[in-house]
Amino acid sequence: MNRKYRKTVVAGNFKMNLLPSDIKEYSETLRQLSGKARHCDMLVCAPFVMLPQAVKAFKDCRIAVGAQNLSDKESGAFTGEVSANQLRDLGVKYVIIGHSERRAYYGETDELVNAKVKAALGAQLNPIVCVGETLKQREQGVTEELVSMQVKLALYGVPSDKMRHVIIAYEPVWAIGTGKTATAEDANEICNKIRSVIRGLYGARISRAVTIQYGGSVNPKNAAELFAMPDIDGALVGGASLNPSDFAAIIEAANQ
Ligand code: PGA
Repeated sequence: MNRKYRKTVVAGNFKMNLLPSDIKEYSETLRQLSGKARHCDMLVCAPFVMLPQAVKAFKDCRIAVGAQNLSDKESGAFTGEVSANQLRDLGVKYVIIGHSERRAYYGETDELVNAKVKAALGAQLNPIVCVGETLKQREQGVTEELVSMQVKLALYGVPSDKMRHVIIAYEPVWAIGTGKTATAEDANEICNKIRSVIRGLYGARISRAVTIQYGGSVNPKNAAELFAMPDIDGALVGGASLNPSDFAAIIEAANQ
């Protein structure tokens, strides 16, 4: 991380876990354990049905609430979808876009990811844009090209004045939920590459200011080493965010 130029952000991604009735206790524990964190931004991304409880439970504290998905459409006849304005109206501040599970299981394309990024920004939500390669792609030696392309396509047409709201999360697919983490050096190398792609698109000042998270089996043991890397500005945490003590320990590592 490099707090001189950019924010460190630690985000939890509950995925399809926990129940709405779990949020109260979870939030009380997390608020207590993370109360001293002043140097990093924190948020939890909950399933849609828990967002009202989560917004209420984290009111008046430094922990923000995010969604895990949104519609690319503004409003209308789109049964089962949730719009950016609906999230915004609820008090949600962030939204994960293009997570590899959505790309792999729900067919989300780079084009749809781009439309969702624009929809989020249009409603003043902060998108956390996920990119990352599969194991096969890493073995084929195309990681840098693939991740560069994902970043460019996700940000296509996004004006530079919106970039201060955008977070990129580099999540190698093979490291998600597997217990395998990229080495801190390998993760940093790709985060650095992402920063250079953003430099090419938006210039040095914006690339220095953009927060780039690492995600994929981040836990209390490996977090400090990852955050010590110059281009890793926090983490998107899945499994370990389900336990508020583990999540607070990761926040503590980012708060150093
Ligand atoms: P994990 O998930 O921490 O459980 O690997 C990360 C993510 O998918 O965002």
